[in-house]
Amino acid sequence: MINVLMVCLGNICRSPLAEGILKSKVNVDQVFIDSAGTGSWHIGELPDIRSIQVAKKNNINITNQRCRQFVVEDFDEFDLIFVMDNSNYETVISLARNDSDKQKVNLILNQIYPGNNLDVPDPYYDESRGFDRVFEMLNNACDRIAETI
Ligand code: 4NP
Repeated sequence: MINVLMVCLGNICRSPLAEGILKSKVNVDQVFIDSAGTGSWHIGELPDIRSIQVAKKNNINITNQRCRQFVVEDFDEFDLIFVMDNSNYETVISLARNDSDKQKVNLILNQIYPGNNLDVPDPYYDESRGFDRVFEMLNNACDRIAETI
């Protein structure tokens, strides 16, 4: 079993999409996928309605997900931690206890643009078109992740 964690700020827009998209591309009996936020505002909530809608439009149901906050024990449970942007990266790295923890953390867009350290833009304050763009980016990154894990 490989354990993969998707992380963003709120765990209601980007990382729930990343979780749902990757689950649609792998054998979920062999890969465990979860998501979390570095922030605590939305704990227990459903994903943002705009993420639910863009997922649904692409035949992915993410309404089983509930927001949770990233915890330091996630470094023990997960083999790969994909963060959505550089700010999430800094937050998660600051919680790492050692080099082994740090090596698990990668910017998700480095899967398709290696070394470019690009952000998946935070669509929270955006129009719904921003969510289509985020879906497309995450779909491409998850294709690559599914090929390599
Ligand atoms: P996410 O987007 O990190 O992609 O889930 C956000 C959602 C909520 C907030 C920020 C970003 N917020 O500040 O509540």
